[in-house]
Amino acid sequence: MRVHIADHPLITHKLTVLRDAKTPSPVFRQLTEELMTLLAYEATREVRVEETEIQTPVTTTKGVRIADPKPLVVPILRAGLGMLEGMTKLVPTAEVGFVGIVRDEATLKPSTYAERLPENLEGRQCFVLDPMLATGGSLAAAIKFLFDRGATDVTAVCLLGTPEGVRAIDTLVGDRDVKLVLGAMDDGLNEKGYIVPGLGDAGDRLYGTV
Ligand code: PRP
Ligand code: URA
Repeated sequence: MRVHIADHPLITHKLTVLRDAKTPSPVFRQLTEELMTLLAYEATREVRVEETEIQTPVTTTKGVRIADPKPLVVPILRAGLGMLEGMTKLVPTAEVGFVGIVRDEATLKPSTYAERLPENLEGRQCFVLDPMLATGGSLAAAIKFLFDRGATDVTAVCLLGTPEGVRAIDTLVGDRDVKLVLGAMDDGLNEKGYIVPGLGDAGDRLYGTV
């Protein structure tokens, strides 16, 4: 698995505001979207394009456009939804599939409560979005859905990750070519399975407590 950890002062600056417990939900939502757009630049570096010819006001010239089948973006509900807009802003022709996964607060095991994905993902570039890669259980479950439908080209984007989360995804992925883009690699997990230093519960900070 290829892991890319962002190294840009704007990303670190925005992550710092996101981590701050005093940052209110509206600002948190805005920053999550902006961070996704910045990370999307790296995540889509290998997006498939095809040559096209266009007419400028001056002459004809060759360029590229995003190839078919269009990329599939898969936010993991709930918190991944906060990243969706930031991604589709950059790739407006992408299609969107959904996976709803919640982890049990005691066992930290993920369970899936919703899934709306195309049946066949062969030849499809898939981008999975989830702000938090903690134990890795939720992201691994989502990526497994994609593999089970034939996807071989998967990129995951998370705002924060942990070494244990990355190891869990690496174990699932094996020698498949998966790319993981992180806004930052944090120290690890506390006894409740929260990322340290982290930013708390991303879903709650985006949308309030359920
Ligand atoms: C959070 C987060 C990830 C998951 C990460 O979701 O958005 O999906 O935890 O933890 P893991 O790596 O240990 O699996 P949560 O279960 O809180 O659901 P939510 O998005 O609905 O708030
Ligand atoms: N999920 C979150 O929302 N935050 C964490 O720190 C860990 C899992």
